[in-house]
Amino acid sequence: MATAEQIKSLIRSHFTDHPEQFRTIALQVAAHEAKQGHRSLALEIRTLVDKAGALPARVIPFTPDLEHLVLASAPSERLGMLVQSEEMRARIYRILREYRQKTKLEKHGLTHRRKILLAGPPGTGKTLTAAVLAGELGLPLFTIMMDKIVTKFMGETSAKLRQIFDVIQERRGVFLFDEFDAIGGERGRDDDVGEMRRVLNSFLQFIERDTSDSLVVAATNNPRILDQALFRRFDDVLHYHLPERAEIERLIENRLGSFRQSKMRLERTAKMAESLSHAEIVQACDDAIKETILADRKTVTAKLLVRMLEERRSAYKATIRG
Ligand SMILES: Nc1ncnc2c1ncn2[C@@H]1O[C@H](COP(=O)(O)OP(=O)(O)OP(=O)(O)O)[C@@H](O)[C@H]1O
Ligand SMILES: [Mg+2]
Repeated sequence: MATAEQIKSLIRSHFTDHPEQFRTIALQVAAHEAKQGHRSLALEIRTLVDKAGALPARVIPFTPDLEHLVLASAPSERLGMLVQSEEMRARIYRILREYRQKTKLEKHGLTHRRKILLAGPPGTGKTLTAAVLAGELGLPLFTIMMDKIVTKFMGETSAKLRQIFDVIQERRGVFLFDEFDAIGGERGRDDDVGEMRRVLNSFLQFIERDTSDSLVVAATNNPRILDQALFRRFDDVLHYHLPERAEIERLIENRLGSFRQSKMRLERTAKMAESLSHAEIVQACDDAIKETILADRKTVTAKLLVRMLEERRSAYKATIRG
């Protein structure tokens, strides 16, 4: 039987709305039972927990003055949806693992990695990663629209950021500072430079002081803002890259699913997708699926997919030249 302490903790975590804690304790009960030789009960408990997956988070709206600057959602994205190198997936998994077992770490005076910087080219899965972290942990995702804050509240950006960091302290969730470049990147007009520096500095101070339970994630596709001062404030920096051949194949395979023609040779098609981002490849697959559906056909041919990939590639080239 579970110990009295475990039963009390289970009840507590249920009523204080900490689904992740509930899950951890349930797994501890399973481990306890296994130790007592109650293998099948342990397995049953573990299966129940696994089946439940992460519970969708409850999203409470923000106060009116922040509402239009922060998007709240309850993502259902899972780690399996993210196509990345093994190394990258392992690093994302480590964030999840440390979060799930943070009490264990705390007992030894350690904190789980929770301030994460995501850097890399557009369409490689940075925003998706934030959704995966939230989805896997059953936490709400709060996306802070940095560009909006900066353009709307130039001059009071730091004050707005302070308000947001107050919320981070109060509410558990994944807080994504998306398009983080907005405060560090293009330093266009001269009079903006000083202000941007100040904003970046206050952001760094806020993030340094933050001791909340939440995950704080910043995403940027501008490598120019990545300096030492910034790196130091984060527990982890993940660098995203355009997909390599194996990833391209996996992306196409995942996306086409049952629409994939059985004789399609992935290696050959994947070659046509080189230098495209994950997002562009996914879009090309979707375009090919749409064409197939509209033509009342059942499966996507290699020829059609190659055409859609080429279309993406030329759209990209045209943009660069234009
Ligand atoms: N690594 C990936 N694995 C699977 N799908 C991906 C991946 N990266 C991107 N996608 C697909 O492309 C879409 C857009 O990607 P996402 O918004 O995460 O890119 P991003 O890196 O945040 O780009 P940006 O820098 O432009 O914000 C995703 O919703 C997903 O459908
Ligand atoms: Mg993004």
